[in-house]
Amino acid sequence: MNFKDYIREIPDFPQPGILFKDITTLLKHGKAYGAAIEALKEAVKNKEIDLIAGPEARGFVVGAPLALALGVGFVPIRKSGKLPGETIEAKYALEYGNDCLAMHKDAIAPGQKVLIADDLLATGGTIATTINLIRQLGGEVAGAAFLIELEDLNGREKLGDVDVFSLIKY
Ligand code: PRP
Repeated sequence: MNFKDYIREIPDFPQPGILFKDITTLLKHGKAYGAAIEALKEAVKNKEIDLIAGPEARGFVVGAPLALALGVGFVPIRKSGKLPGETIEAKYALEYGNDCLAMHKDAIAPGQKVLIADDLLATGGTIATTINLIRQLGGEVAGAAFLIELEDLNGREKLGDVDVFSLIKY
């Protein structure tokens, strides 16, 4: 399947000059969405994985079905202030200003192997922060899997030695 056929490109969103990769056109197509999750599952099949972690919001629509497909649990990474229990937090820089991601302190036990899943690897800031949170809790990052990678932005370089897989590259 040519997954690019299911990704819609929208010019000047969210800012002038950005060609936004819209995955909603993939998600609404049940066969393509299912095949994309199957392809990610296949890509990580040789890894030992205890949990999937995904950042809100689009990381949930990739991470949760991948977790079910692999038969493991899912850990949501959320923007600060959204999780009800005790959390750890990590700040990261956006183009303008900062944002903060949070994870429940008891979400990961030391030594658990965690695969990160998200829709898109762009600058890598979101996933570098997610790696930081997982490691703060003593988790081992088993790798990171994405539907889309924007190669020009060199996000991989921010992820150090983490094994990265992306299904669609631009
Ligand atoms: C988007 C996307 C990734 C991140 C990629 O999420 O879903 O998580 O940006 O960018 P980066 O590699 O430069 O960090 P966003 O923060 O827009 O949140 P959303 O999923 O709620 O739309």
